Amino acid sequence: MCGIVGFNGKLQAAPILLDGLSKLEYRGYDSAGMAVRNDEGEVNVVKAKGRLKALSDKTDGGKTLPGTCGIGHTRWATHGEPSENNAHPHCSDDGNVTAVHNGIFENYQEIKEKLMKSGYTFYSQTDTECAVKLIDYYYKKYKMGPIDAIAKTMVRVRGSYALCVMFKDYPGDIFVARKESPMIVGLSEGNSYVASDVPAILKYTNKVYYIDNMEMARLGKGEVEFYNVDGEVIEKELVTIDWDAEAAEKGGYEHFMMKEIHEQPKAVKDTINSVVKDNKIDLTNLGLSDEEIKDISNIIIVACGSAYHVGVVAQYVFEDLAKIPVRVELASEFRYRKPLLDPKTLVIVVSQSGETADSLAALREAKNRGIKTLGIVNVVGSSIARDADNVFYTLAGPEIAVATTKAYSTQLIACYLLAIQFGLVRGELTAEQSINLIAELQTLPEKIERILTDKERIQWFAAKFAAAKDVFFIGRGIDYAVCLEGSLKMKEISYIHSEAYAAGELKHGTISLIEDGTLVISVLTQNALFEKTVSNMVEVKSRGAYLMGLTSYGHYQVEDTAEFTVYIPKTDEHFAASLAVIPLQLMGYYISVARGLDVDKPRNLAKSVTVE
Ligand code: G6P
Repeated sequence: MCGIVGFNGKLQAAPILLDGLSKLEYRGYDSAGMAVRNDEGEVNVVKAKGRLKALSDKTDGGKTLPGTCGIGHTRWATHGEPSENNAHPHCSDDGNVTAVHNGIFENYQEIKEKLMKSGYTFYSQTDTECAVKLIDYYYKKYKMGPIDAIAKTMVRVRGSYALCVMFKDYPGDIFVARKESPMIVGLSEGNSYVASDVPAILKYTNKVYYIDNMEMARLGKGEVEFYNVDGEVIEKELVTIDWDAEAAEKGGYEHFMMKEIHEQPKAVKDTINSVVKDNKIDLTNLGLSDEEIKDISNIIIVACGSAYHVGVVAQYVFEDLAKIPVRVELASEFRYRKPLLDPKTLVIVVSQSGETADSLAALREAKNRGIKTLGIVNVVGSSIARDADNVFYTLAGPEIAVATTKAYSTQLIACYLLAIQFGLVRGELTAEQSINLIAELQTLPEKIERILTDKERIQWFAAKFAAAKDVFFIGRGIDYAVCLEGSLKMKEISYIHSEAYAAGELKHGTISLIEDGTLVISVLTQNALFEKTVSNMVEVKSRGAYLMGLTSYGHYQVEDTAEFTVYIPKTDEHFAASLAVIPLQLMGYYISVARGLDVDKPRNLAKSVTVE
């Protein structure tokens, strides 16, 4: 989950590396470093602990590192604490090989011991240093070229990696290798780029190659050659990315998160329009035929983090609209629990990045067992998108803030659309019901827009609770699923302890945590559950809780119980999560801002979690 950028071309490398790394900081930000080769062929390495800004300050925005070929890295520590010493790039003892790495080399200890016997010494605690020195060892021992030395290393190591390597003897080239960790190569006139993710180089080019597992590449200036692990040259397809560079910039907002919250109406609309034509849902591009849909016996939704919360909402919606049994599972659990899978199961993997290690492993587990898989993915060409049998692309565009907002919203939409179509094809919904539900979906962007116009009220309320110690979110059914997401938003960016509880479950333990003034946010969008949840609100209120109600216009009686109420427009109850989540995203955001925290890059987190 570290970020990698490499540049080889006609321009000064360091400023381009810093700029690219700034777009990848969401992948890790505890230290950063760059290695740039100057005109005399010497490689200079600069590293700094902390945010990328420290590296930028140390190199005067890259000016003190002249040269047109270089590699850079922003780190999310796995092996070895965050420190300058453990930061990448790492070098062989004589500076022959310099590299940056994303991923984990699992057998690094064993390699380290082997290399120590051959006289290598180690200055860091990282697994990366071992791999760098192993490349150096093979290169020298067998007098082989860089591609062969890297290929031999790829066969010897276990684990995952995206590697970017420079060799002293090959001043005109950067070499890269990949297994499991994402890496793309981009070209523009006379310049070559390599990066962990598209936004890092989008400003310079939208033409990219995806490097696949066990593949390598050599980047010259403005040209690239790809190899398989046997060192044979292979052809790859150039893909045009239709995200524009501006989408990866803040565009006048103080934080990416706020910008992305405001992009939700468009993201939701684009995702709906991607499959809705003339009031009908057309899943042809996903490759799912009506026969296949009819044949499904049950669905397992597998995901991590917020994508898992989407699955919890989807469970209610699918079961109600399509009458298919659905189970939702955390990918990290599913992959190891030896699930009993009916051959007619459909496994849906939901992932913004398409690279989350546990979700990818769960997908592969399902595929190995011969189960049909569908990915709901945002990043085009990502591993999950490429490995799944069918893909529903959410059209959220690049999401940079670590705390997801617009990707979550588009994932919900993808699930609703699938549930409606599954219901129709399986005869559980009439054509008219389906048309009405689609029409309702199409009103969501405007309704989200309306909620956003009233954000100052939430800002005011958030400021009052910026010093809260604990926050509880309660709700039932889909409202409980929204609470899970609201609570995650709160804790991940504001560092306030928060919990989401099924409202009816509170009295089985959690209620003992309610003290005088504890903030309890109650979500009530489901008519049939309204009064039940109000009873639970009364229970906590009588124990001192301060209550915020979140409900649809018309349910004004909430004000009899709640001290502060936020209203959202009415919609079909199946889709209420799409509206109820917006004030909760805003709450998390404003509390984080009021506490003076780094909203877009919360401590210890990374957006794309490519380790187990
Ligand atoms: C990380 C992010 C979350 C995200 C989760 C799953 O924990 O911080 O926002 O929901 O990973 O990521 P994915 O890319 O698979 O949706």
